[in-house]
Amino acid sequence: MPRRHDVAAIGGDGIGPEIIAEGKKVLDAAGERYGFGIRWKDLDIGAERYLMTGELLTEGDLATLGTCRAIYFGAIGDERVKPGILEKGILLALRFHFDQFVNLRPVKLLPGVWTPLAGKGPADVDFVVVRENTEDFYVGIGSRFRKEERKTLEVIRSLYRVKFGVDAESDAEEVAYQIGVITREGARRVIRFAFEQAIRRARAAPKVTSVDKANVLTEVYGLWRDVFSEVAAGFPGVSSEFSFVDAATMWFVKNPEAFDVVVTPNMFGDIITDLGAMIQGGLGLAPGGNINPEGTSMFEPIHGSAPKYRGLGVANPVATIWAGSMLLDHLGEGEAAAAVLDGIVRAIAAGVKTRDMGGQAGTSEVGDFIAAYLRGA
Ligand code: IPM
Ligand code: MN
Repeated sequence: MPRRHDVAAIGGDGIGPEIIAEGKKVLDAAGERYGFGIRWKDLDIGAERYLMTGELLTEGDLATLGTCRAIYFGAIGDERVKPGILEKGILLALRFHFDQFVNLRPVKLLPGVWTPLAGKGPADVDFVVVRENTEDFYVGIGSRFRKEERKTLEVIRSLYRVKFGVDAESDAEEVAYQIGVITREGARRVIRFAFEQAIRRARAAPKVTSVDKANVLTEVYGLWRDVFSEVAAGFPGVSSEFSFVDAATMWFVKNPEAFDVVVTPNMFGDIITDLGAMIQGGLGLAPGGNINPEGTSMFEPIHGSAPKYRGLGVANPVATIWAGSMLLDHLGEGEAAAAVLDGIVRAIAAGVKTRDMGGQAGTSEVGDFIAAYLRGA
């Protein structure tokens, strides 16, 4: 009996369905080659359904997704829907609902890929960002008011609950505020994951860098740093350092080889991983995994839905296929995961590249090539 994995697939909006189709093709081929089968559960979540029915995520969606250890996610975002609705109502809602507290984003320049960093190659750009994925300014609590405000704000997680009673008054014309939350538990689990990653990567000199802004946001990132130091003390074989986020953006460009594992709160993680994507060749090559080691994890390209390329067959599926490799790794199919990444490198070497990479291949040619490579054709 071959091994079976239940995996949910959400194509979503824009180019999402096209790139997920290529990813599924590649993962199925990997399964044929390495002796497992994927039972796909396709879910129709995204802007189209929202516009038709007003539904973002239904109880039924969550129940189905909850039966799978992994979700393969394309992209959401549609010009007909106000910014924030789909992002918060679908993507962030899934990350929070399934308590996917790690957003793992490799920043790795593959051989044959152009980087805007002069004089740097694959040996120099090879680190991972462990982005905290459930806290910080992403918790989404805040408000706007004139004169005065009395309100209760809550963050409800499986790990804890935090409730704020706001009692504010002001003579400013209008006030907006948003609360960033870091908890000891939340910081500890993600920082620990980062140190475990450093051990798993097994570099000659393993290192974890905390990227934060503890010199200005002294409360939230002060707590973050305290927890970082405590966790670091438990990993004597891994060196550790702090870097302020503004300086870190400079180091990503100037000395990317200085990084092994970067761990960072949610919002800075969002920002620096777009920079990371560029130094690894562009958004078309940047995958991410939203991980709950004990629950349902979700793998996606870090780029968005790129609506202007929808249906043209030109989108680069590599970020999604690479996210598929991470998904396989998460399911314990390490050999197949490595082969998928190898297939990506082979496609690039063979010149099977989409336009954003200077090639002429269409979306499905890239998927076909990698699937054929995996089958051993
Ligand atoms: C990302 C995206 C999301 C984020 C948006 C779409 C909510 O930019 O995955 O990096 O900010 O996390
Ligand atoms: Mn982002």
